[in-house]
Amino acid sequence: MNIYLDTKLPDKNKFFELFLTTDWNKKYKLDVDELFLAIKKSWHVISAYENDQLVGFGRIICDGVVHALILDMIVHPLYKRRGIGTKILICLVKRCLEHNIRDIQVFCAKGKADFYMKNGFQPRPKEAPGMEFKKIRYKRREK
Ligand SMILES: CC(C)(COP(=O)(O)OP(=O)(O)OC[C@H]1O[C@@H](n2cnc3c(N)ncnc32)[C@H](O)[C@@H]1OP(=O)(O)O)[C@@H](O)C(=O)NCCC(=O)NCCS
Repeated sequence: MNIYLDTKLPDKNKFFELFLTTDWNKKYKLDVDELFLAIKKSWHVISAYENDQLVGFGRIICDGVVHALILDMIVHPLYKRRGIGTKILICLVKRCLEHNIRDIQVFCAKGKADFYMKNGFQPRPKEAPGMEFKKIRYKRREK
C-alpha cells in the first residue's frame, strides 16, 4: 500500500464520492458544488491518495488564532484500520500546533471517541458539552 498525503484540495467529484461513503449527506443533502464550496473555505485540508484514488480526507476550519475545528475526517471503507485516519489527524493537529492555535476541537461521530482519545483528544466536560442548533422559531423580540 503506497499512500501519500497532499495538502491541496481534492477533485470535487472524487471528494463527493468519498463523502457519500458516510451517511452524512442524508442529513445535509449537499450537491457536488455545495460540498466543494464548503471544503474550499477550509483553513487547511489533507487528502490521502493511493495512486490517484482519493482514499482519505480531513480538514480544519479555523480563525487562525484561537479556535480550530477538525471535521470531515473520512477514510474510504476499503482502506480503514490501516492507520490512514491517524496519519491525517496527526497532520491536522500538527498544523494547529505550529500556528499556536489555543483551542483545537473535533466533531466526533458516534463510535469514534476512542479513535480521537488515542490521538490526544478528550471528551468535553459534561457540564460544558458541545451544542448544536435545533430548529426552533425565535419569538419576536418586544421593543
Ligand atoms: C474515523 C475514521 C476516519 C478512522 O480512519 P482509519 O483510517 O480507519 O483510522 P486508523 O486506521 O488510523 O485507526 C482506526 C483503528 O484501526 C486501528 N489500526 C490502525 N492501523 C491498523 C492496522 N495496521 N491493523 C489493524 N488495526 C489498525 C487503530 O488502532 C484504530 O483502532 P480504534 O478503532 O480502536 O481506534 C474512519 O473510520 C472513517 O472514515 N469513518 C467514517 C466516517 C467517520 O465517522 N468519520 C469520523 C467523523 S468524527
